[in-house]
Order: sequence, then structure tokens, then C-alpha cells
Amino acid sequence: MEISIYKDGTKAEAEAIMLFEGEKADGITFSKEDFTGKAGEASILRKDKVTILVGLGKKAEFEDEKIRQAAATLVCASKKTSAKTFIVKLPAFEKADDFVAARNFVEGALLASYEFTKYKEKKDDNPSSEGKTAFLKASKSAQKAEDGIKLGRVMAQAANYARDINNEPGNVANPEFMAQKAIELSKKSGFSCKVINVAELAKMGLHGIEYVGGGSKTPGRLVVMEYAPAPKASAKDPFVFVGKGITFDSGGISIKPSREMEKMKWDKSGACAILGIMKAVSELKPNARVVGIIGLAENMPSGTACRPGDIIRSGGKSIEIFNTDAEGRLVLADALSYARDKYPDAKSVIDLATLTGACVIALGSVASGLLATDDKLAAEIEKASFKTGERVWRLPMFPEFEQMIAGKQADIKNTAEPGGEGSTITPAFFLKNFIGKWPWAHLDIAGTAYQTTLAVRNYYAWGPTGVGVRLCTQYLLDHSGK
Ligand code: BES
Ligand code: MN
Ligand code: ZN
Repeated sequence: MEISIYKDGTKAEAEAIMLFEGEKADGITFSKEDFTGKAGEASILRKDKVTILVGLGKKAEFEDEKIRQAAATLVCASKKTSAKTFIVKLPAFEKADDFVAARNFVEGALLASYEFTKYKEKKDDNPSSEGKTAFLKASKSAQKAEDGIKLGRVMAQAANYARDINNEPGNVANPEFMAQKAIELSKKSGFSCKVINVAELAKMGLHGIEYVGGGSKTPGRLVVMEYAPAPKASAKDPFVFVGKGITFDSGGISIKPSREMEKMKWDKSGACAILGIMKAVSELKPNARVVGIIGLAENMPSGTACRPGDIIRSGGKSIEIFNTDAEGRLVLADALSYARDKYPDAKSVIDLATLTGACVIALGSVASGLLATDDKLAAEIEKASFKTGERVWRLPMFPEFEQMIAGKQADIKNTAEPGGEGSTITPAFFLKNFIGKWPWAHLDIAGTAYQTTLAVRNYYAWGPTGVGVRLCTQYLLDHSGK
């Protein structure tokens, strides 16, 4: 579904009305049996004209996020009518103005319209919302609604772009393909992009990516993208975003069980989020320098793969490999060390990674784990989380966890002993070895990067969600005067 602003005289075949529970609609009669207004409910009334009623839930329980979900409900209902054009009047929310309402509506509608069908030779006949348009009518300010539509569109399209790349399977999206995607985006969007191979990384003392990718036919690499606003003079210290890009995580020699291993093609979700953030940044043009770094490797078992017991180096530390399946932190060690060296004065560094199964157990696909050494940065991310509906939950970095990764024969180990205990928190202490003096936060998106069982958000289809794109872009907008 496409979204446009309603202008005087815009004609449409159908109309959609968003209503709270128990609320009446002007000039339209319906009974409680037709429609109650519950969140997620849609009812199609067919009289002279098609009218779709969309539930917003209880008024007392309203939050901005409900608008995204209502938009997704409408997209779903719209597939059941032949109408191609809809006029949607934004209600006058007490808490959300026309900007927020329109922005959230567009995000929900575009995220819900996402489909990944490129490999289906035989298109199934599931109805699609393609070719349908909703015209948003502001409750008060058409200008605010129009601005909201623009922002919502950039946000959702960037997230959908990240989902598209993430959906590419491991036999297509290897580290080389991912680097190529970054180059392609940088050329299209006018920012710089550098690909650093493992030989060059080794010269910098960074061996994490090299070792994790040691068992793969395609060596790993580090990609660094840099956006600078024009005029360049106004650009100061950058905001840096780092993403884990394991194009397939078999576990390596510490091989994973086969159940659900196919989902590990999405172990590059962090890297895809960074590409999405860079796309959004290039369109929104905030007055800030923005750096996106992605650490790419494929974690495979082979005769050249890294072994448990191996001792490697990254960022000036020696690391004992206890489990080759704890590979994400090794790739991030290289990327964070690189950032520490090249961007010592970064305003902040946020990394995104599908890092631990324990985070999925703790927070499900409802919230990303947030671990931070800086309370202010953590609070700023929480604020962006409220605005985008991408939930985060902060976990403590109590010092007791640190000793669990102390090395036996090297400085640090890549997994904690005893195994499993606090295993979303111990990797944060592992990563802390490689951070600079900048405020740093780590987002564990293992549970939120894709949805396959419970649909926590009705606008996400089965598969990747693009989590982190809207959250981090919002954080940037909040801190770059836009
Ligand atoms: N990519 C996985 C984490 C993961 C698990 C993401 C499930 C999404 C869903 C990561 O590389 C991993 O294997 N982590 C291990 C670490 C352990 C060996 C210390 C884990 O959490 O089990
Ligand atoms: Mn792993
Ligand atoms: Zn992994």
C-alpha cells in the first residue's frame, strides 16, 4: 500500500475510519455485532460505498504505537476488497498530533505491506496490498501530516530495505555480497564506503573476522561507510553504528544442532540494520557525521576453521576460543577496536548484534537487550525506543559478571564459565575490552531481528523485522538538530 496526503477534492473508492472501543462514527451506523473497536479488529461495511472500520482499542490504553498497528490492520483488511483507493481520516488524538499520527500510520502500513517473493517462481494467489493507495486526511494540520508521511516513509522503506537484504539466503548473501550491497548503496546515496580485507585487518592486529571466517570459502571483511553533511565544515565528531554480519552461523567446529539452523542466515541482521540506517541517513540528511561499520564473516566448520582452544588476537588483547559458536563478539571486537582507533572522539558508538540465545530466552521477540556503560546514552536510546515502538530493555552490567570471562591462558575467553549463566551480559563485558572513551551501548537483537512464531507486532511478516533501523535513525534525529 502507498500513502499520500489527502487534498481537497481527492476522490477515493472507499473510506477507512479508526475508532476506539465503543466510539461512534459520524454518519455511519453499525451495531456492536459488526464492530467493537478492539485493537486488531477490522470490519468491512458494504453499503453504497465500502467503509472499513479499524479498531484502536481502549482509549485509556492508547499509545502512539497503536496507530502503527491500526494501519497494519487496515492493510490486511484492504486486501479483502477490490477498492484500490481509500480516504483515511486521522482521528484527533489527545496524545499524538498529526505529525506523529501520520508518521506512525505510514510506518505501520508500509512495514505491513512488505513481502519477500523474489524466489517464488509460481506466485501464490494470496491477495496483496500492492497497487492500493491510502489518502491521509489530517485532523488539524495538513502540513504536519505531510511531514509525518515523509518521515514515516523514509523510516519504513529503510527498514524494508534491511529486511530485503537480510532475507537473501546464505548461498547468495555471503560476505562479498554484503560488501557489494554497501558499495552499491554508498554510490546511490552519495556517501563514502571502504572495504577492508582480512590481510589488511591482520596488519592492524585485528584477527577476529579472519578467524571466524577461516572455515568459509568466502573470507570475511570489514566495511566502513561514512556520511558527512554538506557543508562539510559543520560536521564534527561522528555517531558510529556497528553491526554483526555473520552471513550464516553454523556454529563452526562447535556446531549447532540442526533444529532451526536455517534461521542463522539472519545472523547478519545487525549488519543489515546498519545498511538501513545509512540509507535513512542519506535521505534525511541530518546535520551530523554518521559512520556505519559492519563486520562480515561466514561461520563454517572445515579443516581451516578456527578450533576450540585456539588463542587469537584482536585490539591488543589475546582471546581464548572456548566455543567457536560465540563468534559474533570476535567480529565485533575487530569492528569496535577499529572504531576506537579511527574515531576516538565519536559522540557515541552503538552496536547491534544477534548475539545470544539467552537474550531470546529472557526477552523473547518483544524487546532487544540493551547493555550500556553510559546511563545517559542508555536513556537516550530508551527515548528513541518509545518513539519508534522498537522496545528495548536494559540489563545490568554488574561487575561480578566480568570475572566470568577472565582468560585461563590468554587475557580473556570468548565464553563464560559456567556455561550459560548470564550469557547475554558476559559478552557485553567481553566487548567492553574493545571500546574507546566514547559512550557505548550494545543492543542484543537476537530475539527481535526476526519473528517466526509469535507476532509481537502485527506489521511484521514471518522473517526479518529490520529492527534497529528506525530506533537508531530516531536516536540520530533526536541528537543532530533534525
Ligand atoms: N547467532 C547466535 C545467537 C542467536 C541464537 C541468535 C538464537 C538468534 C537466535 C550466536 O552466535 C551464538 O551462537 N551464541 C551462543 C553463544 C554461546 C556459545 C556462548 C548462544 O547464545 O548460545
Ligand atoms: Mn554463534
Ligand atoms: Zn552468531
